[in-house]
Amino acid sequence: MSSEPLLISLLPDTATLSIDDVTIGGVSLRDLAAAYGTPLFVYDEATLRSRCREAASVFDDGVAFASKSFLCGAMARLAFEEGLCIDVATGGELDIVLRSGVPANRVIVHGNNKSHDELERALAVGVHRVIVDNFDEIERLRSLVTPTSPLSCLVRVTPGVEAHTHEFVRTGQEDTKFGFSISTGDARKAISFLREIPGVTVHGVHAHIGSQIFETAGFRETIEILADFTSDDDFDELCVGGGLGVAYVANESSLSIGEWGTAIRGAAKEAGIAQSVRLLGEPGRSIVAQAGVTLYRVGAVKPVSQRTYMAVDGGMSDNPRPVLYGSGYEAFDVSRPLAGRPQPVRLVGKHCESGDVLIDEAWLPQETGVGSIIATPVTGAYGYSMASNYNRVPRPAVVFVANGEAREVLRRENFDDLARLEV
Ligand code: LLP
Repeated sequence: MSSEPLLISLLPDTATLSIDDVTIGGVSLRDLAAAYGTPLFVYDEATLRSRCREAASVFDDGVAFASKSFLCGAMARLAFEEGLCIDVATGGELDIVLRSGVPANRVIVHGNNKSHDELERALAVGVHRVIVDNFDEIERLRSLVTPTSPLSCLVRVTPGVEAHTHEFVRTGQEDTKFGFSISTGDARKAISFLREIPGVTVHGVHAHIGSQIFETAGFRETIEILADFTSDDDFDELCVGGGLGVAYVANESSLSIGEWGTAIRGAAKEAGIAQSVRLLGEPGRSIVAQAGVTLYRVGAVKPVSQRTYMAVDGGMSDNPRPVLYGSGYEAFDVSRPLAGRPQPVRLVGKHCESGDVLIDEAWLPQETGVGSIIATPVTGAYGYSMASNYNRVPRPAVVFVANGEAREVLRRENFDDLARLEV
Protein backbone atom coordinates (compact mmCIF):
# COMPACT_ATOMS: atom_id res chain seq x y z
CA MET A 1 0.00 0.00 0.00
CA SER A 2 1.31 3.43 -0.77
CA SER A 3 0.41 7.02 -1.44
CA GLU A 4 1.49 6.72 -5.08
CA PRO A 5 -1.22 6.83 -7.75
CA LEU A 6 -2.71 3.43 -8.52
CA LEU A 7 -0.62 1.07 -10.65
CA ILE A 8 -2.32 0.58 -13.99
CA SER A 9 -0.99 -2.99 -14.03
CA LEU A 10 -3.69 -3.93 -11.50
CA LEU A 11 -6.44 -2.81 -13.88
CA PRO A 12 -7.96 -4.72 -16.79
CA ASP A 13 -5.91 -4.74 -20.03
CA THR A 14 -7.94 -2.04 -21.78
CA ALA A 15 -7.93 0.49 -18.92
CA THR A 16 -7.02 4.10 -19.69
CA LEU A 17 -6.56 6.81 -17.08
CA SER A 18 -7.24 10.51 -17.59
CA ILE A 19 -7.19 13.38 -15.14
CA ASP A 20 -10.83 12.88 -14.11
CA ASP A 21 -11.95 9.44 -15.28
CA VAL A 22 -11.01 5.85 -15.98
CA THR A 23 -12.22 3.92 -18.99
CA ILE A 24 -12.38 0.17 -19.34
CA GLY A 25 -13.30 -1.37 -22.66
CA GLY A 26 -13.69 2.19 -23.89
CA VAL A 27 -16.44 2.93 -21.34
CA SER A 28 -16.18 5.55 -18.59
CA LEU A 29 -16.41 4.16 -15.06
CA ARG A 30 -18.07 7.40 -13.97
CA ASP A 31 -20.76 6.89 -16.62
CA LEU A 32 -21.22 3.25 -15.59
CA ALA A 33 -21.75 4.23 -11.95
CA ALA A 34 -24.28 6.85 -13.05
CA ALA A 35 -26.11 4.48 -15.41
CA TYR A 36 -26.20 1.29 -13.32
CA GLY A 37 -25.75 2.51 -9.77
CA THR A 38 -23.34 1.18 -7.18
CA PRO A 39 -22.01 -1.21 -6.02
CA LEU A 40 -21.33 -2.47 -9.50
CA PHE A 41 -19.07 -5.20 -10.86
CA VAL A 42 -17.48 -4.20 -14.17
CA TYR A 43 -15.72 -6.81 -16.31
CA ASP A 44 -13.52 -6.11 -19.31
CA GLU A 45 -14.42 -8.63 -22.01
CA ALA A 46 -11.08 -8.19 -23.76
CA THR A 47 -9.20 -9.23 -20.63
CA LEU A 48 -11.51 -12.21 -20.07
CA ARG A 49 -11.14 -13.33 -23.67
CA SER A 50 -7.40 -12.92 -23.76
CA ARG A 51 -6.90 -14.94 -20.55
CA CYS A 52 -9.19 -17.70 -21.88
CA ARG A 53 -7.27 -17.78 -25.16
CA GLU A 54 -3.97 -17.98 -23.32
CA ALA A 55 -5.24 -21.00 -21.36
CA ALA A 56 -6.62 -22.63 -24.49
CA SER A 57 -3.32 -22.20 -26.31
CA VAL A 58 -0.92 -23.39 -23.60
CA PHE A 59 -2.94 -26.44 -22.48
CA ASP A 60 -4.55 -29.17 -24.57
CA ASP A 61 -8.17 -29.50 -25.57
CA GLY A 62 -10.25 -30.12 -22.46
CA VAL A 63 -8.67 -27.29 -20.42
CA ALA A 64 -11.47 -25.74 -18.36
CA PHE A 65 -12.52 -22.46 -16.82
CA ALA A 66 -13.23 -23.01 -13.09
CA SER A 67 -16.66 -21.41 -12.97
CA LYS A 68 -16.74 -21.17 -9.16
CA SER A 69 -14.52 -18.10 -9.52
CA PHE A 70 -17.25 -16.19 -11.40
CA LEU A 71 -20.27 -17.68 -13.08
CA CYS A 72 -23.17 -16.33 -15.08
CA GLY A 73 -24.51 -17.33 -18.48
CA ALA A 74 -22.50 -14.66 -20.30
CA MET A 75 -19.26 -15.79 -18.67
CA ALA A 76 -19.89 -19.47 -19.44
CA ARG A 77 -20.61 -18.65 -23.10
CA LEU A 78 -17.52 -16.43 -23.36
CA ALA A 79 -15.21 -19.13 -21.98
CA PHE A 80 -16.82 -21.72 -24.28
CA GLU A 81 -16.45 -19.43 -27.33
CA GLU A 82 -12.78 -19.04 -26.53
CA GLY A 83 -12.24 -22.79 -26.57
CA LEU A 84 -12.47 -23.75 -22.91
CA CYS A 85 -14.54 -26.39 -21.18
CA ILE A 86 -16.43 -25.24 -18.10
CA ASP A 87 -15.70 -26.82 -14.73
CA VAL A 88 -18.66 -26.94 -12.35
CA ALA A 89 -18.57 -28.07 -8.73
CA THR A 90 -22.28 -28.40 -7.94
CA GLY A 91 -25.65 -29.08 -9.53
CA GLY A 92 -26.38 -25.35 -9.34
CA GLU A 93 -23.30 -24.42 -11.34
CA LEU A 94 -24.12 -27.20 -13.82
CA ASP A 95 -27.63 -25.83 -14.24
CA ILE A 96 -26.46 -22.26 -14.94
CA VAL A 97 -23.95 -23.51 -17.50
CA LEU A 98 -26.50 -25.70 -19.28
CA ARG A 99 -29.04 -22.85 -19.32
CA SER A 100 -26.38 -20.62 -20.89
CA GLY A 101 -26.41 -22.85 -23.97
CA VAL A 102 -22.92 -24.28 -23.50
CA PRO A 103 -23.14 -27.88 -24.72
CA ALA A 104 -22.98 -30.53 -22.01
CA ASN A 105 -20.07 -32.20 -23.74
CA ARG A 106 -17.94 -29.17 -22.79
CA VAL A 107 -18.74 -29.42 -19.08
CA ILE A 108 -16.57 -31.04 -16.42
CA VAL A 109 -18.25 -32.03 -13.17
CA HIS A 110 -16.41 -31.76 -9.87
CA GLY A 111 -17.52 -32.05 -6.26
CA ASN A 112 -16.53 -33.87 -3.10
CA ASN A 113 -20.13 -34.81 -2.32
CA LYS A 114 -22.00 -35.21 -5.56
CA SER A 115 -25.54 -36.32 -4.87
CA HIS A 116 -27.33 -39.11 -6.71
CA ASP A 117 -29.39 -36.46 -8.51
CA GLU A 118 -26.35 -34.43 -9.52
CA LEU A 119 -24.63 -37.52 -10.95
CA GLU A 120 -27.81 -38.67 -12.65
CA ARG A 121 -28.21 -35.32 -14.40
CA ALA A 122 -24.54 -35.20 -15.40
CA LEU A 123 -24.90 -38.62 -17.02
CA ALA A 124 -28.27 -37.85 -18.59
CA VAL A 125 -27.03 -34.71 -20.33
CA GLY A 126 -23.72 -36.35 -21.26
CA VAL A 127 -21.06 -34.17 -19.67
CA HIS A 128 -17.49 -34.30 -20.97
CA ARG A 129 -15.91 -35.60 -17.75
CA VAL A 130 -16.79 -36.33 -14.15
CA ILE A 131 -13.90 -35.95 -11.72
CA VAL A 132 -14.47 -38.80 -9.27
CA ASP A 133 -13.68 -37.87 -5.67
CA ASN A 134 -14.52 -40.71 -3.25
CA PHE A 135 -15.65 -44.31 -2.78
CA ASP A 136 -19.24 -43.38 -1.93
CA GLU A 137 -19.47 -41.59 -5.25
CA ILE A 138 -18.16 -44.72 -6.99
CA GLU A 139 -20.98 -46.72 -5.36
CA ARG A 140 -23.52 -44.18 -6.66
CA LEU A 141 -21.96 -44.40 -10.12
CA ARG A 142 -22.21 -48.20 -10.00
CA SER A 143 -25.98 -47.88 -9.86
CA LEU A 144 -26.18 -45.20 -12.58
CA VAL A 145 -23.61 -45.98 -15.28
CA THR A 146 -24.38 -48.53 -17.97
CA PRO A 147 -22.93 -49.15 -21.42
CA THR A 148 -25.83 -47.11 -22.81
CA SER A 149 -25.39 -44.38 -20.19
CA PRO A 150 -21.59 -44.27 -20.15
CA LEU A 151 -19.19 -42.16 -18.11
CA SER A 152 -15.85 -40.61 -19.02
CA CYS A 153 -13.95 -39.68 -15.89
CA LEU A 154 -10.75 -38.64 -14.22
CA VAL A 155 -9.87 -39.71 -10.71
CA ARG A 156 -9.03 -36.94 -8.29
CA VAL A 157 -5.92 -37.76 -6.32
CA THR A 158 -4.12 -36.03 -3.47
CA PRO A 159 -0.47 -35.88 -4.39
CA GLY A 160 0.68 -35.00 -0.86
CA VAL A 161 2.01 -31.61 -1.95
CA GLU A 162 1.73 -28.70 0.50
CA ALA A 163 1.09 -25.60 -1.60
CA HIS A 164 2.38 -22.30 -0.27
CA THR A 165 -0.92 -20.51 0.25
CA HIS A 166 -3.65 -19.82 2.80
CA GLU A 167 -4.67 -23.01 4.63
CA PHE A 168 -8.35 -22.56 3.68
CA VAL A 169 -7.49 -22.87 -0.01
CA ARG A 170 -4.81 -25.57 0.26
CA THR A 171 -5.94 -28.96 -1.06
CA GLY A 172 -2.99 -31.08 -2.18
CA GLN A 173 -1.92 -32.30 1.25
CA GLU A 174 -2.89 -35.69 2.69
CA ASP A 175 -5.18 -34.27 5.38
CA THR A 176 -7.98 -33.06 3.10
CA LYS A 177 -11.59 -33.78 2.22
CA PHE A 178 -10.76 -33.89 -1.51
CA GLY A 179 -9.76 -36.87 -3.62
CA PHE A 180 -8.05 -40.21 -3.10
CA SER A 181 -4.67 -40.50 -1.45
CA ILE A 182 -1.91 -41.84 -3.65
CA SER A 183 0.26 -42.87 -0.73
CA THR A 184 -2.35 -45.05 1.04
CA GLY A 185 -3.21 -46.91 -2.15
CA ASP A 186 -6.76 -45.53 -2.27
CA ALA A 187 -6.20 -43.83 -5.62
CA ARG A 188 -5.08 -47.10 -7.20
CA LYS A 189 -8.04 -48.90 -5.65
CA ALA A 190 -10.48 -46.27 -6.93
CA ILE A 191 -9.21 -46.69 -10.49
CA SER A 192 -9.66 -50.45 -10.37
CA PHE A 193 -13.16 -50.17 -8.85
CA LEU A 194 -14.17 -47.75 -11.60
CA ARG A 195 -12.78 -50.02 -14.30
CA GLU A 196 -15.02 -52.85 -13.04
CA ILE A 197 -18.11 -50.82 -13.96
CA PRO A 198 -19.25 -51.48 -17.54
CA GLY A 199 -19.55 -48.14 -19.33
CA VAL A 200 -16.88 -46.32 -17.35
CA THR A 201 -13.75 -45.01 -19.07
CA VAL A 202 -11.01 -43.66 -16.80
CA HIS A 203 -9.05 -41.15 -18.89
CA GLY A 204 -6.53 -40.25 -16.24
CA VAL A 205 -5.96 -38.46 -12.99
CA HIS A 206 -6.60 -35.00 -11.64
CA ALA A 207 -4.92 -33.08 -8.82
CA HIS A 208 -5.59 -29.58 -7.52
CA ILE A 209 -3.13 -28.44 -4.89
CA GLY A 210 -4.71 -25.14 -3.90
CA SER A 211 -5.40 -21.60 -4.97
CA GLN A 212 -3.56 -18.24 -5.15
CA ILE A 213 -0.17 -19.96 -5.62
CA PHE A 214 2.67 -17.81 -6.96
CA GLU A 215 5.42 -20.36 -7.51
CA THR A 216 5.67 -23.17 -10.03
CA ALA A 217 7.50 -25.53 -7.64
CA GLY A 218 4.31 -27.11 -6.22
CA PHE A 219 2.85 -27.66 -9.69
CA ARG A 220 6.10 -29.18 -10.95
CA GLU A 221 6.25 -31.49 -7.94
CA THR A 222 2.64 -32.51 -8.60
CA ILE A 223 3.45 -33.39 -12.20
CA GLU A 224 6.37 -35.56 -11.07
CA ILE A 225 4.14 -37.42 -8.63
CA LEU A 226 1.39 -37.88 -11.22
CA ALA A 227 3.94 -39.07 -13.79
CA ASP A 228 5.26 -41.61 -11.37
CA PHE A 229 1.78 -42.76 -10.36
CA THR A 230 0.58 -43.17 -13.95
CA SER A 231 3.75 -44.57 -15.51
CA ASP A 232 2.40 -48.14 -15.83
CA ASP A 233 -0.97 -47.06 -17.18
CA ASP A 234 -2.17 -45.99 -20.59
CA PHE A 235 -3.99 -42.83 -19.51
CA ASP A 236 -4.51 -40.11 -22.07
CA GLU A 237 -5.16 -37.13 -19.74
CA LEU A 238 -3.57 -35.43 -16.76
CA CYS A 239 -5.06 -32.37 -15.10
CA VAL A 240 -3.20 -30.17 -12.63
CA GLY A 241 -6.29 -28.23 -11.55
CA GLY A 242 -6.22 -24.47 -11.07
CA GLY A 243 -4.52 -22.33 -8.50
CA LEU A 244 -2.35 -19.82 -10.31
CA GLY A 245 -2.01 -16.72 -8.11
CA VAL A 246 -2.74 -13.16 -9.19
CA ALA A 247 -1.42 -9.81 -7.95
CA TYR A 248 -3.98 -7.91 -5.88
CA VAL A 249 -1.83 -5.06 -4.58
CA ALA A 250 1.08 -2.97 -5.80
CA ASN A 251 3.97 -5.01 -4.39
CA GLU A 252 2.81 -8.36 -5.79
CA SER A 253 3.60 -9.88 -9.15
CA SER A 254 2.37 -13.08 -10.70
CA LEU A 255 3.07 -15.43 -13.55
CA SER A 256 0.95 -15.28 -16.68
CA ILE A 257 -1.23 -18.25 -17.58
CA GLY A 258 1.16 -18.87 -20.48
CA GLU A 259 4.19 -19.00 -18.16
CA TRP A 260 2.35 -21.28 -15.75
CA GLY A 261 1.29 -23.67 -18.52
CA THR A 262 4.75 -23.66 -20.05
CA ALA A 263 6.30 -24.58 -16.68
CA ILE A 264 3.82 -27.44 -16.35
CA ARG A 265 4.59 -28.66 -19.88
CA GLY A 266 8.30 -28.48 -19.14
CA ALA A 267 7.86 -30.50 -15.96
CA ALA A 268 5.76 -33.08 -17.81
CA LYS A 269 8.44 -33.50 -20.45
CA GLU A 270 11.17 -33.85 -17.84
CA ALA A 271 9.07 -36.41 -15.97
CA GLY A 272 8.76 -38.47 -19.15
CA ILE A 273 5.02 -38.04 -19.70
CA ALA A 274 4.22 -39.13 -23.25
CA GLN A 275 3.52 -36.35 -25.76
CA SER A 276 0.21 -37.99 -26.57
CA VAL A 277 -1.12 -37.36 -23.04
CA ARG A 278 -3.37 -34.29 -22.95
CA LEU A 279 -2.10 -31.84 -20.32
CA LEU A 280 -4.94 -29.93 -18.75
CA GLY A 281 -5.52 -27.18 -16.22
CA GLU A 282 -8.56 -25.56 -14.66
CA PRO A 283 -7.76 -21.90 -14.05
CA GLY A 284 -10.42 -19.74 -12.42
CA ARG A 285 -8.95 -16.74 -10.61
CA SER A 286 -6.22 -16.10 -13.20
CA ILE A 287 -8.89 -15.76 -15.90
CA VAL A 288 -11.35 -13.47 -14.16
CA ALA A 289 -9.67 -11.65 -11.26
CA GLN A 290 -7.91 -8.83 -13.07
CA ALA A 291 -10.73 -8.43 -15.59
CA GLY A 292 -13.05 -7.16 -12.85
CA VAL A 293 -13.32 -4.00 -10.76
CA THR A 294 -15.99 -3.07 -8.23
CA LEU A 295 -17.41 0.45 -8.08
CA TYR A 296 -18.74 1.82 -4.79
CA ARG A 297 -20.08 5.16 -3.64
CA VAL A 298 -18.74 6.65 -0.42
CA GLY A 299 -21.57 7.40 1.99
CA ALA A 300 -19.93 8.30 5.28
CA VAL A 301 -16.52 9.41 6.49
CA LYS A 302 -15.85 9.15 10.19
CA PRO A 303 -12.57 10.27 11.73
CA VAL A 304 -11.92 8.68 15.12
CA SER A 305 -8.79 9.27 17.15
CA GLN A 306 -6.93 6.24 15.71
CA ARG A 307 -7.91 6.53 12.03
CA THR A 308 -10.58 7.55 9.54
CA TYR A 309 -13.34 5.14 8.58
CA MET A 310 -14.70 5.52 5.06
CA ALA A 311 -17.93 3.59 4.47
CA VAL A 312 -19.14 2.47 1.04
CA ASP A 313 -22.47 1.09 -0.13
CA GLY A 314 -21.34 -2.56 -0.31
CA GLY A 315 -18.91 -4.54 1.81
CA MET A 316 -18.49 -8.11 2.99
CA SER A 317 -21.63 -9.15 1.09
CA ASP A 318 -20.01 -8.43 -2.30
CA ASN A 319 -16.41 -9.16 -1.27
CA PRO A 320 -16.01 -11.52 1.69
CA ARG A 321 -12.36 -12.27 0.85
CA PRO A 322 -10.77 -9.73 3.19
CA VAL A 323 -12.81 -11.10 6.10
CA LEU A 324 -12.31 -14.76 5.18
CA TYR A 325 -8.68 -14.81 4.15
CA GLY A 326 -7.27 -11.44 5.19
CA SER A 327 -6.85 -10.63 1.50
CA GLY A 328 -5.45 -7.24 0.57
CA TYR A 329 -6.91 -4.89 -2.04
CA GLU A 330 -6.22 -1.39 -3.31
CA ALA A 331 -8.69 1.41 -3.91
CA PHE A 332 -8.72 4.43 -6.17
CA ASP A 333 -10.95 7.39 -6.83
CA VAL A 334 -12.53 7.01 -10.25
CA SER A 335 -12.59 10.80 -10.75
CA ARG A 336 -8.94 11.27 -9.69
CA PRO A 337 -6.99 8.25 -10.95
CA LEU A 338 -3.74 10.10 -11.54
CA ALA A 339 -3.72 11.92 -8.22
CA GLY A 340 -1.44 10.95 -5.34
CA ARG A 341 -3.19 9.03 -2.58
CA PRO A 342 -2.04 10.62 0.67
CA GLN A 343 -5.23 9.93 2.66
CA PRO A 344 -5.14 6.67 4.66
CA VAL A 345 -8.58 5.32 5.51
CA ARG A 346 -10.06 2.06 6.70
CA LEU A 347 -12.46 1.20 3.89
CA VAL A 348 -15.53 -0.44 5.38
CA GLY A 349 -18.92 -1.60 4.17
CA LYS A 350 -22.48 -1.04 5.35
CA HIS A 351 -22.94 -4.29 7.27
CA CYS A 352 -23.70 -4.48 10.95
CA GLU A 353 -20.40 -5.75 12.23
CA SER A 354 -16.97 -4.32 12.88
CA GLY A 355 -15.37 -7.08 10.82
CA ASP A 356 -16.98 -5.68 7.67
CA VAL A 357 -13.70 -4.30 6.35
CA LEU A 358 -12.83 -4.20 2.66
CA ILE A 359 -9.38 -2.65 3.04
CA ASP A 360 -7.68 -2.27 6.37
CA GLU A 361 -5.57 0.65 5.20
CA ALA A 362 -6.60 2.08 1.85
CA TRP A 363 -4.90 5.13 0.36
CA LEU A 364 -7.01 7.67 -1.47
CA PRO A 365 -6.66 11.22 -2.77
CA GLN A 366 -7.15 13.95 -0.17
CA GLU A 367 -10.32 15.17 -1.92
CA THR A 368 -12.06 11.77 -1.86
CA GLY A 369 -15.05 11.91 0.43
CA VAL A 370 -18.80 11.49 0.69
CA GLY A 371 -20.30 11.07 -2.78
CA SER A 372 -17.03 9.98 -4.44
CA ILE A 373 -17.09 6.90 -6.63
CA ILE A 374 -14.22 4.67 -5.70
CA ALA A 375 -13.12 1.40 -7.23
CA THR A 376 -11.35 -1.67 -5.94
CA PRO A 377 -9.44 -3.44 -8.72
CA VAL A 378 -8.85 -7.20 -9.12
CA THR A 379 -12.26 -8.13 -7.76
CA GLY A 380 -13.30 -10.35 -10.67
CA ALA A 381 -12.69 -13.66 -8.86
CA TYR A 382 -14.58 -15.04 -5.88
CA GLY A 383 -16.35 -11.75 -5.19
CA TYR A 384 -19.68 -12.00 -6.98
CA SER A 385 -19.51 -15.79 -6.76
CA MET A 386 -19.26 -15.68 -2.96
CA ALA A 387 -21.59 -12.70 -2.57
CA SER A 388 -24.39 -12.98 -0.02
CA ASN A 389 -27.51 -11.16 1.04
CA TYR A 390 -26.26 -10.54 4.57
CA ASN A 391 -28.31 -7.79 6.20
CA ARG A 392 -30.65 -8.25 3.25
CA VAL A 393 -28.35 -6.26 1.02
CA PRO A 394 -29.25 -6.92 -2.64
CA ARG A 395 -26.43 -8.28 -4.78
CA PRO A 396 -24.86 -5.77 -7.20
CA ALA A 397 -25.39 -5.75 -10.96
CA VAL A 398 -22.65 -7.04 -13.26
CA VAL A 399 -21.79 -5.36 -16.55
CA PHE A 400 -19.44 -6.49 -19.31
CA VAL A 401 -17.72 -3.73 -21.27
CA ALA A 402 -16.16 -4.00 -24.73
CA ASN A 403 -15.49 -1.69 -27.66
CA GLY A 404 -17.05 1.33 -26.05
CA GLU A 405 -20.25 -0.45 -25.02
CA ALA A 406 -21.59 -1.84 -21.79
CA ARG A 407 -24.07 -4.68 -21.44
CA GLU A 408 -25.66 -5.76 -18.24
CA VAL A 409 -25.18 -9.50 -17.77
CA LEU A 410 -26.68 -9.80 -14.27
CA ARG A 411 -29.13 -7.20 -13.06
CA ARG A 412 -29.03 -5.74 -9.59
CA GLU A 413 -31.17 -7.62 -7.08
CA ASN A 414 -34.14 -5.74 -5.74
CA PHE A 415 -36.28 -6.10 -2.62
CA ASP A 416 -38.75 -8.37 -4.48
CA ASP A 417 -35.86 -10.74 -5.17
CA LEU A 418 -35.02 -10.71 -1.48
CA ALA A 419 -38.62 -11.59 -0.59
CA ARG A 420 -39.10 -14.30 -3.24
CA LEU A 421 -38.48 -17.23 -0.91
CA GLU A 422 -40.99 -16.15 1.71
CA VAL A 423 -43.83 -18.69 1.92
N1 LLP B 1 -10.10 -26.73 -9.80
C1 LLP B 1 -10.53 -27.13 -8.60
C2 LLP B 1 -10.79 -28.55 -8.36
C3 LLP B 1 -10.73 -26.19 -7.57
O1 LLP B 1 -11.14 -26.60 -6.37
C4 LLP B 1 -10.47 -24.83 -7.82
C5 LLP B 1 -10.68 -23.81 -6.78
C6 LLP B 1 -10.04 -24.45 -9.10
C7 LLP B 1 -9.85 -25.43 -10.08
C8 LLP B 1 -9.76 -23.02 -9.47
O2 LLP B 1 -8.72 -22.50 -8.74
P1 LLP B 1 -8.18 -21.02 -9.07
O3 LLP B 1 -7.50 -21.07 -10.42
O4 LLP B 1 -9.33 -20.11 -9.08
O5 LLP B 1 -7.24 -20.74 -7.97
N2 LLP B 1 -12.65 -18.71 -2.46
C9 LLP B 1 -11.20 -18.75 -2.47
C10 LLP B 1 -10.68 -19.66 -3.53
C11 LLP B 1 -11.20 -21.06 -3.42
C12 LLP B 1 -10.71 -21.96 -4.53
C13 LLP B 1 -11.50 -23.22 -4.57
N3 LLP B 1 -11.13 -24.10 -5.62
C14 LLP B 1 -10.66 -17.34 -2.65
O6 LLP B 1 -11.46 -16.40 -2.76
O7 LLP B 1 -9.45 -17.12 -2.64
